[in-house]
Amino acid sequence: MKKLIDQISTFVLILAIASCGQKSANETNGESGQQPQSMIEDEPVDDGLGIGNYKDFVEAEYNADLAQKGKVVFDAKCLACHKITDQKVVGPGLLGITKRRKAAWILNMITNPVEMTQKDPTAKDLLAEHLTQMTFQDVNDADAKAIYEYLRMVDGAGN
Ligand code: HEC
Repeated sequence: MKKLIDQISTFVLILAIASCGQKSANETNGESGQQPQSMIEDEPVDDGLGIGNYKDFVEAEYNADLAQKGKVVFDAKCLACHKITDQKVVGPGLLGITKRRKAAWILNMITNPVEMTQKDPTAKDLLAEHLTQMTFQDVNDADAKAIYEYLRMVDGAGN
């Protein structure tokens, strides 16, 4: 009889352990079930500044001479694909660009177009729409800033 009681209590003990294990397995499932949600919360918010060296760029007062220099570079390196109207050529027309996008974003797009179209949500959408990859046009820092000034001029700065 004692042996039977021993056997039963061992059985009960095993049951208790088994159900305990099951419970903690359920709890773990519950936690992992919530993980995707917290991953969505962790996703970076698009700050509209783009990706590249110009995230901290703050535009100075409009400079008409710099804009004229920018026009020369723009005509040589950009005009084949971009009009300064709202009309698309290979890429989008750039009229109004300085109102639509932040200065930092535009400078990052000019100097880092491939990474931008891979990682920046706005630039990604543009590539999906225009189906041609804008490539880096070998524009140095001074030229990039001059082009930006020219785009400001096109959008009416200094008038
Ligand atoms: C080979 C054609 C080509 C050349 C050259 C080119 N681009 Fe682009 N550009 C594009 C395309 C196409 C897009 C849209 C994104 C994409 O598909 O890569 C674009 C996008 C842009 C955008 C974003 C437009 C928007 O609506 O937000 C800016 C700004 C821009 N280009 C400026 C320039 C400047 C400045 C130059 C000259 C230094 C230049 N691009 C040279 C093809 C070109």
